Amino acid sequence: MEEDLTNVDVASPAVYGEGVPHDVLARLRAEDPVHWHPWPGHGGGFWLLTKHADVVEVGKDPEAFSFQVGHIALEDREPDELAARQSMIETDPPSHTRLRKLVSSVFTPKKVREYGAYTRRVAGELLDEAIAKGEFDWVPAISEPLPIMVLIAILGLPAEDTPQLIEWTSELAAATDPDHVPDPVKYPTDVDPRLLPFGSPAAWHIFEYGRKIGEERRHHPTGDLVSRLVHAQVDGERLTDTEYTNFFEVFVFAGNETTRTGISQGILALMEHPDELERLAADPSLLPTAVEEILRFGTPIIYFRRTATRDTEIRGTPIREGDKLALWYLSANYDEEVFADPYRLDLGRKPNDHVTFGGGGPHFCLGAFLARLEIRILLEEILARRVRFELTGPPVRLRSNFINGFKSIPVRAVPAR
Ligand code: HEM
Repeated sequence: MEEDLTNVDVASPAVYGEGVPHDVLARLRAEDPVHWHPWPGHGGGFWLLTKHADVVEVGKDPEAFSFQVGHIALEDREPDELAARQSMIETDPPSHTRLRKLVSSVFTPKKVREYGAYTRRVAGELLDEAIAKGEFDWVPAISEPLPIMVLIAILGLPAEDTPQLIEWTSELAAATDPDHVPDPVKYPTDVDPRLLPFGSPAAWHIFEYGRKIGEERRHHPTGDLVSRLVHAQVDGERLTDTEYTNFFEVFVFAGNETTRTGISQGILALMEHPDELERLAADPSLLPTAVEEILRFGTPIIYFRRTATRDTEIRGTPIREGDKLALWYLSANYDEEVFADPYRLDLGRKPNDHVTFGGGGPHFCLGAFLARLEIRILLEEILARRVRFELTGPPVRLRSNFINGFKSIPVRAVPAR
């Protein structure tokens, strides 16, 4: 007998610890695309939107579906928590438009390409070091260091702080797993964890580090992103300390864990579809579509939440002011109405209108070009080395309903056929 859809907890971190519940998501798309998902203890529940068209439409309408009221995650937050954490992503237009203008010029395709040579060098060195070992864990060897090292360059942070930043950001990523308990000796802080992203003390260390670097750049600007932020004027006023540190933190999280997951998902998808990798090796002109397909297939962010600001309806289902809605990117990217044969990795897929970076609304991922660049360069460097990878054990997934990530992917390097 088929399971009653109302009993399936698609928002449970434990479910994602085992794997993506694609069968249930497919049934929801077909049978109940605007699904009331009960979630006791978190305001009773939320609307789970699984269709591509709805995710795009709601994401493009910040007036009716706010990022700022409530939070981007499903859990309820007290007003002091919301205020302490508010960054550009939890800000609605028109304030959001002003904040985004401050940083958008750093992430244009042209600007991002300037980091291409550096990214290639880092990706190449990480690959060479890992391949020399023969067998290694892909996550700490490649997925973790590459995105943070690129961000360190863009933000303008001292290179010698790289190991410390990798440790904090890995700790922050682990905190999206509700079972994770931080080590109080390694991550001491007496700040109320409610006020920290993911309740993680590592976030406090990142805030404090960002504050210290910001103070230095205030006196000695160097032209990097931190200098730009601390000297920026919004409507004639400097960013407040909280605005600045939340900006800093958003880059360190949004630009890091997401791309890390894209890289982990990418290598797994290629190991599971070796013919597609050979297809790419034989025809590197497929690289642009390959990057998009890896991003669709791996969908690093599972969902973002919006909150209805007025009574409305979606597909005839009434939505009340204050209701939470979850834009389930991980389902929309497999919507068979938009993607033919969605469970097949097709590195030549075109068009590929995925919503991995959002559906095109005002918060569309600022770092999309950077993430694409990193994944593309990594693929190029793998192909250039004529190396392939094989799993040597089961990959370990993050127990998170937010990040579609991995803690470990044990692999062995082998020569290409
Ligand atoms: C594969 C990697 C990435 C994925 C899957 C991803 C995904 C997303 C998504 C889904 C959103 C929200 C879009 C919306 O609601 O419409 C977003 C926003 C954002 N992303 Fe990314 N992202 C990635 C990489 C990056 C990188 C590398 C950076 C920066 C260095 C970055 C910075 C941001 C920022 C600042 C926002 C908020 C933009 C705003 O509020 O206007 N992301 N990202």
